[in-house]
Amino acid sequence: MTAMNTFENKRFLARIRGGDFAHPGEEEAIDLVLSHVKPQPRETVLDAGCGLGATADAIGKKTGAVVVGVDLDAESVRHANATYRDFQFIPGDVTKLGELALPKMDVIYAFNSLYACPDLDACFASFNEVANPGARIGVFDYIAYDAGALAATGCLPPSVHSMTQMRQLPERQGWACTGIVNLDLAYAAWYARFLARMDENREMLAAVRSPEVFEAVRKRYADMLHCLEQGTLGGALHLYARA
Ligand SMILES: C[S@@+](CC[C@H](N)C(=O)[O-])C[C@H]1O[C@@H](n2cnc3c(N)ncnc32)[C@H](O)[C@@H]1O
Repeated sequence: MTAMNTFENKRFLARIRGGDFAHPGEEEAIDLVLSHVKPQPRETVLDAGCGLGATADAIGKKTGAVVVGVDLDAESVRHANATYRDFQFIPGDVTKLGELALPKMDVIYAFNSLYACPDLDACFASFNEVANPGARIGVFDYIAYDAGALAATGCLPPSVHSMTQMRQLPERQGWACTGIVNLDLAYAAWYARFLARMDENREMLAAVRSPEVFEAVRKRYADMLHCLEQGTLGGALHLYARA
């Protein structure tokens, strides 16, 4: 099956989630991350891998911070700039942030985007290029507890990081892990809710794309839920500050 990170697929997932979000937990997850990361009014905040832009818009509006989104997918960035006009969205690679004309950031956060970056060292080295000295980072993402079993299902790319990688690789780039919020159970509940929404809206969603796409997406999310229930996949919020 094709990657879920294409513009068309993100729009389809957003429709199921009821907003331009491509992360589990939607608004609930945003509030959870904000309760830990706490951007202040007028602080500069980077949304690394911002997707369709609703997360950056919600965080900017909830906190009064100046949020800038960066995403590899130019079509998502165009959609975000056209839809969420209070904030700026820039096409670019989160592993090469130094190449973009960005302000220095007080906060950097990422919602389910770093799992798609095989080189976590490069991500955190890149964060160094744009972070203010006192900057803090929040990474809300999948966790691979059994990379082999997860890869066998093909429901996520092999780049999903382990707990050990999430602690050790940022440290090599000068970022100490200051806290971990385990979200394994929350992820399982959020994916069960996602599948229930797909089933409730089966006819409408199948008509939006096609019955084949609907079934392929449903299978992928059912596989993810199965991995979450088996304990081969999990979720976590990792918090970092300068070591
Ligand atoms: C699952 S979506 C999440 C989008 C958004 N954070 C949200 O919560 O709705 C993952 C996003 O990460 C982006 N992405 C993946 N690798 C990236 C990279 N190296 N640089 C910038 N964006 C990247 C993809 O294009 C995609 O939009």
